[in-house]
Amino acid sequence: MKGIILAGGAGTRLYPCTISVSKQLLPIYDKPLIYYPLSMLLLAKIRDILIISTPRDIEDYKRLLGDGSRIGVHFEYAVQETPRGLADAFIVGEQFIGNDSVCLVLGDNVFYGAAMSEILAQAKDSIKNGGAAIFGCFMKNPQDFGVVEFDENKKVVSIEEKPKKPKSNYAVPGLYFYDNDVIRIAKSVQPSARGEIEISSVNEAYMNRNQLHVTLMGRGVSWFDTGSPKGMHKASGFVKTLQEMQGFYISCIEEIAWRKKLIDDEQLKKCGEELKQTDYGKYLLSLLNNEEESG
Ligand code: DAU
Repeated sequence: MKGIILAGGAGTRLYPCTISVSKQLLPIYDKPLIYYPLSMLLLAKIRDILIISTPRDIEDYKRLLGDGSRIGVHFEYAVQETPRGLADAFIVGEQFIGNDSVCLVLGDNVFYGAAMSEILAQAKDSIKNGGAAIFGCFMKNPQDFGVVEFDENKKVVSIEEKPKKPKSNYAVPGLYFYDNDVIRIAKSVQPSARGEIEISSVNEAYMNRNQLHVTLMGRGVSWFDTGSPKGMHKASGFVKTLQEMQGFYISCIEEIAWRKKLIDDEQLKKCGEELKQTDYGKYLLSLLNNEEESG
């Protein structure tokens, strides 16, 4: 399975912060926002990852993440000329995806939960024979997201993008698993009223074929959409609080790569040494001397 991180867009809701910098490079507490969605792909054991951003910002991502060898993965980069919509990721990424299945994660979505590895493994598994897998998160403001509605048998009966009158409280977070048909489906999606090819239309196409798996994330998972200054602040506060309380870092990509055996002790030490003037670097080095298992 291939992975795509969509890290483009105009970022206008975060102006003036994003006038000259890509939103997904801004910090969520102590690390760039893109580390959080990237860590989901690492936890899902996806090693071939395409990063899509704007013509202006793509070089910044290359500078930050390189070819991926530092954390034992392979990064490729592609440009989305204009923010045509989330489904465009599969058109821009067509060659990269090839004949494979694909996981798309939005560059501004932050997830945290002890069960995340298992949730991701199950979603991956659920589309082994085709179809799509998405998630539902109970939200007080579902109208700001894609919204899924279920019938009494828990079957999905509708998906709507930012409905004025949401039919449920279940918002769809920016983490999606698809079979290879997604490329063809994305190409056939008609632009919405806001002029974008919507991911909700892609999901609706899978729903209509009876091939859409929806898993509710439940209380054990925290999900933040960082589309506004408030959203970014909330996510930063959450990360700071948890890291300080528990001592474990959230979405520390080098730690995940090391725990998943993508890099060895020596490489982790090298990563830690590079950053050793920061708490982040000291944390990486401390992992080598710490016998305790992470939660
Ligand atoms: O966060 C989850 C929500 O993300 C879903 O519930 C919605 O169904 C989905 O449409 C999306 O809604 P947003 O309004 O949050 O999408 P936004 O336009 O903010 O784009 C999400 C990220 O993708 C953002 O970091 C910018 C980037 N992006 C967006 C578009 C439209 C691109 O890189 N290219 C694009 O063409």
